Amino acid sequence: LDNGLATTPPLGFNDWNAYGCNVSEALIKATADAMHSNGMQAAGYQYVNIDDCWMTSNRDAAGHLVPDPAKFPDGISGTAAYVHGLGLKLGIYEDAGTATCAGYPGSLGHETQDAASFAAWGVDYLKYDNCSNQGISATTRYTAMRDALRATGRPILFSLCNWGQESVWTWGAPVGNSWRTTNDINASYGSMLGIFHANVGLGAFAGPGHWNDPDMLEVGNGMSATEDRSEFTLWSEMSAPLIAGTNVAAASADTLATLTNRQVLAVDQDPLGRQGQLVAAGGGLDVLAKPLAGGDVAVVLFNENSAAATISTSTGAIGKAAAGTYTLTDLWSGASSTTGGPISATVPGHGTVMYRVSGGGAPAVPSGVVSATGAGKC
Ligand code: GLA
Repeated sequence: LDNGLATTPPLGFNDWNAYGCNVSEALIKATADAMHSNGMQAAGYQYVNIDDCWMTSNRDAAGHLVPDPAKFPDGISGTAAYVHGLGLKLGIYEDAGTATCAGYPGSLGHETQDAASFAAWGVDYLKYDNCSNQGISATTRYTAMRDALRATGRPILFSLCNWGQESVWTWGAPVGNSWRTTNDINASYGSMLGIFHANVGLGAFAGPGHWNDPDMLEVGNGMSATEDRSEFTLWSEMSAPLIAGTNVAAASADTLATLTNRQVLAVDQDPLGRQGQLVAAGGGLDVLAKPLAGGDVAVVLFNENSAAATISTSTGAIGKAAAGTYTLTDLWSGASSTTGGPISATVPGHGTVMYRVSGGGAPAVPSGVVSATGAGKC
């Protein structure tokens, strides 16, 4: 969507995966505080998003949505003010039908009024769900809210949550900043793997301002540390929104280290905005390549199976021009190595190895030669 937002994939938090319907102002504030102090905000996480169950069961007499006063004593506007005070942004949830998935009032037919409420409250992001949709086409329903948001004049990131229905990737780019490509994720390797398979082939439809969304992260919610890293690696390679879905205030050191790996985040946030694609797959051993701004390529070796395996590719197979020597930086260990072409690693079961591959444009500079920018150049 050409609203100036999400030029790189959105980074943030959403309460649904860890808390379900138990959202509250206290939770959102505590989460924002945690993100502010635990390194997440510094690493680029920006949106603190409220999911379903934030409102009362009925609109007020004038038809306005009403934040549940027991859960949000200061309303959405008070919550937004607090989050904004930390330098973060606030997201909210609604539904493009007559009711949300948890049964609260939906926005179908109320788009203008509800968008005006969101803007007045200081909302920066809308996740727009697809329950109780009355069989009306998604393009009609989602376009109506897009136009209503635009009419408010407030920049509000528009996240389409219609679960891949009606091949949303084929019409989503002018409607939303991201679109869910699948049904809901859960904190299991099988769920994560199935969503990866569904999302990985859709790269042609994504780019700056409009991203495929393989659903929120389950990092920290019960998969193994290896599987958590794989989700984070694969989602970053696929230029996905990275919306943490765990209790960040109580996150383990492993979880926080995964969520704030700056080298991996830089792949997700690469300004070129090209989604990584499979360049080889077979027997559950995958190779993905994502071209980056400036000519580097991020390569992922993903072992879908439970036993460790060696996965091999080459600089040519991932799209680097033929040349003498390339540098491989392992984005999880930080180790650096060189290769003349082959790329290979032993990858643990359900694990990933991610390299940033650079060089290849020029021969390596022999040691002792002063660089052209150095003071002693000839
Ligand atoms: C749907 C969405 C989920 C979540 C719930 C809330 O299932 O896909 O992400 O928002 O609704 O009820």
